[in-house]
Amino acid sequence: MSRKKITVIGAGHVGATTALWLGIKELGDIVLLDVVDGVPQGKALDMMEASPMEGFDSAILGTTSYEDTANSDLVIITAGLARKPGMSRSDLIAKNKTIIKDVVDNVISYSPDTILIVITNPLDVMVYEAWEASGLAPEKVIGMAGALDSARMRAFIAMELGVSVEDVQAMVLGGHADEMVPLVRYSTVAGIPISTLIPAERINAIIERTRKAGGEIVALLKTGSAYYAPSRAAAEMAESIIKDKKRIIPCAAYLQGQYGEDGFFAGVPVKLGASGIEQILELELNAEEQEAFRASASAIKGLLGKL
Ligand code: NAI
Ligand code: 2OP
Repeated sequence: MSRKKITVIGAGHVGATTALWLGIKELGDIVLLDVVDGVPQGKALDMMEASPMEGFDSAILGTTSYEDTANSDLVIITAGLARKPGMSRSDLIAKNKTIIKDVVDNVISYSPDTILIVITNPLDVMVYEAWEASGLAPEKVIGMAGALDSARMRAFIAMELGVSVEDVQAMVLGGHADEMVPLVRYSTVAGIPISTLIPAERINAIIERTRKAGGEIVALLKTGSAYYAPSRAAAEMAESIIKDKKRIIPCAAYLQGQYGEDGFFAGVPVKLGASGIEQILELELNAEEQEAFRASASAIKGLLGKL
């Protein structure tokens, strides 16, 4: 059986670490592409030199040429700028929109049937831009955010209770922003609802920390944003697609009436398999959860208006 081919665009913090996780998991041969000559080649070679010790046989190729990405089964896009002092959110949208369009045009010209995972921020609108530029069916374009936000909530619940992270499940829907929707009713420890294990005010603190978790890391790092958990989240999604595991993971998916919304991407639970998004699961939301989802959706639509 020949190996799958996975391309990661952007060899910065998130892209390079994603390539490493993909290699460690032996999900396929990996191409790491960046516009800065030398960086993808150097990082890929460094990872290849780690492979004998970790014992993985995935080939990792660093390049600046899209020709090397031809016939990729999966492409993960991390290319883009982070917000700098003096730069508005709209400035960032405009700059990253140009980058995404250029990247997707190149990717699709060499891999017209690929599946795309988009990571670049602002996530919910960049995945929309990527979908529009790609001409792909909506189920083949997926945004990474819910996997990360839910993992962060799981980590905070495990820390609160002093239990294994393995037994903690959490579900965060909506946009990848402060208005995201952590769902307490769908968060459990070994199947036990967290509302019966953690006092309400501590749950509220966990919700607040989850919503602001990206900013918490930026405030600590000062020179960039999180990348270990984001890249691991991308690898989680890639694994479910490459191995056709059909895991249920919250991802930004194109909504066509689900959750009462239509015509944009937002975080919802999806079944991820070999053909991409194989199903969007519609959870039963109570009035408060519905209102929170609607507010998050409305924030995404506001940003989309700036595209
Ligand atoms: P970084 O600055 O370390 O890396 C970005 C890389 O993109 C750089 O190496 C740069 O040379 C490259 N690049 C820029 N333009 C390019 C182009 N046209 N083609 C190919 N490569 C290009 O940034 P980092 O930390 O890796 O973050 C990447 C993006 O991911 C940012 O937009 C960040 O906000 C976003 N992000 C999103 C998360 C999510 O949950 N969706 C989580 C973490 C980061
Ligand atoms: C995060 O949540 C910056 O979106 C990025 O860490």
